[in-house]
Amino acid sequence: MSDYEDILYDEYSFPQAHPSTVAAVAQIHGAPMRAHRGLRVLDLGCGCGSHLLPMAERDPEGRYIGLDLSRAQIAVGEGMVHATGLENVQLMAGDIRDLSSELGRFDLIVCHGVYSWVPPDVRAAILRVLRQHLAAHGVAFLSTNMLPGWRSRGTLRAGLLRHVDPTLPPREKIDAARRVLDFWADAAQRDTAGFGPFLTEELRALQKASDSYLLYEHLAPLNEPMWFSDLHRAFGKAQLSYLGDACLAIHAPLGDVSEQRLRGLASSLAASEELRDLATHRMFRRSLLVHRERVIDREVHWRRLEGLYFHTALRPTKDGGYQSSKGLRFQTSSAVERAILDTLSDTAPRLLPFDEIVERVGERRAAVGKILLGLTARGLILPLAHDMGIAAALPTRPRATKIARFQAEHRPRVTNLRHESIEMPRSAQCVLRHCDGTRDPGALADHLAQDLAQGKAEILVEGEPVQDRPSIEEAVDLALDALHHSAMFLQG
Ligand SMILES: C[S@@+](CC[C@H](N)C(=O)[O-])C[C@H]1O[C@@H](n2cnc3c(N)ncnc32)[C@H](O)[C@@H]1O
Repeated sequence: MSDYEDILYDEYSFPQAHPSTVAAVAQIHGAPMRAHRGLRVLDLGCGCGSHLLPMAERDPEGRYIGLDLSRAQIAVGEGMVHATGLENVQLMAGDIRDLSSELGRFDLIVCHGVYSWVPPDVRAAILRVLRQHLAAHGVAFLSTNMLPGWRSRGTLRAGLLRHVDPTLPPREKIDAARRVLDFWADAAQRDTAGFGPFLTEELRALQKASDSYLLYEHLAPLNEPMWFSDLHRAFGKAQLSYLGDACLAIHAPLGDVSEQRLRGLASSLAASEELRDLATHRMFRRSLLVHRERVIDREVHWRRLEGLYFHTALRPTKDGGYQSSKGLRFQTSSAVERAILDTLSDTAPRLLPFDEIVERVGERRAAVGKILLGLTARGLILPLAHDMGIAAALPTRPRATKIARFQAEHRPRVTNLRHESIEMPRSAQCVLRHCDGTRDPGALADHLAQDLAQGKAEILVEGEPVQDRPSIEEAVDLALDALHHSAMFLQG
């Protein structure tokens, strides 16, 4: 029996593998994908369906199919489908190697967190499925652990595998691994030279990681990172072409001198990508693949941004720079770069279409387009093919998706309208579960008061729990503001 039956994989949605992001990025890479409503999407190794279900709810005319070997995870996903009444989702327990050839073709096939962790015959089956089941203009998303980055991270895995008995039940394996990690992290911090700081940082991060990450990434029987050239060869053998990465920033220029040297060293796209992986000590890739027959125009032009929508996590700081809540920092003296970032920040959480950015910045279309492309290529601005239906202003009676409301009640994280998995404060999650479009802030305060009385919610003021009406109303206002800025509420 697989450990997945006992300890479920953490539930996340992946914005880079959402059809709207994949379509936007594929368009920039030079092989557009169909991205209208009514998509057919397949998720191989879908876990509990946490990536698939929020996409399905937003595309009721589409068909969303997930396959996973773990019956326990499929059962959890089916529970969520049942609770939310989604009718366009099918979750199947089964092996990728046995997938029926009658399943038809898909606009998008996602395989996240599987390929590096399964034996060679399953890897071959994954690529076979991508080839057989991808629509002519479809795009596949395949994530993999990469070399050389994982060679370093793999030190932790190798150490844990040597000192944790693989025959233990999953829970005991995790506890044993944590004891090794505690010893190792404490001892390693004494070494302040050489690899000591790297090891200490990696060990500290792993100490904080979830049980499921520890079990399935570091204690998994298989975890095979690969060199890009080998991966590229496997794509070719399966008659698939590498389009580019779903995360545009990995293609960002290395600097003039390095780019010139790279051109002198690399005789092919595969060699060039692998040298970039060397330069950045790459650990992970999210490859986008298309049928070999497709013509890919790799000459990226700013005009490819026309028709797309944009957002940024960066916000202006007091010192004149920009910073995201996750610590990304950016400084620029370019007036157009600043105008673009300020415009996106001022209008958030709404996504802005290309034309509106040009109009608001008030410069020539080509000038704005080129600079926007530069910011997008560095991952500072993210493109999407749709506006995602995000409310521009806080609605009087806010409405979140059914999945988000379900997650707010039963899960530690919720999926927002940009398909990001986010953790909200507990009081915000309590408010979110009642945001079905019928309740104004007063009615939401009534519900929060009931939840407080039943011990389902808690409001803390200076560390003390409170239940008086003014505090409840203030908590609702704060929660609604945070939820709105986190792109949780639908338009109209
Ligand atoms: C690390 S989890 C990733 C889950 C999800 N895609 C994600 O990224 O959150 C790997 C998943 O692949 C599934 N899996 C492994 N081998 C499989 C196979 N041969 N056929 C179908 N699913 C498989 C496991 O059951 C597990 O749910």
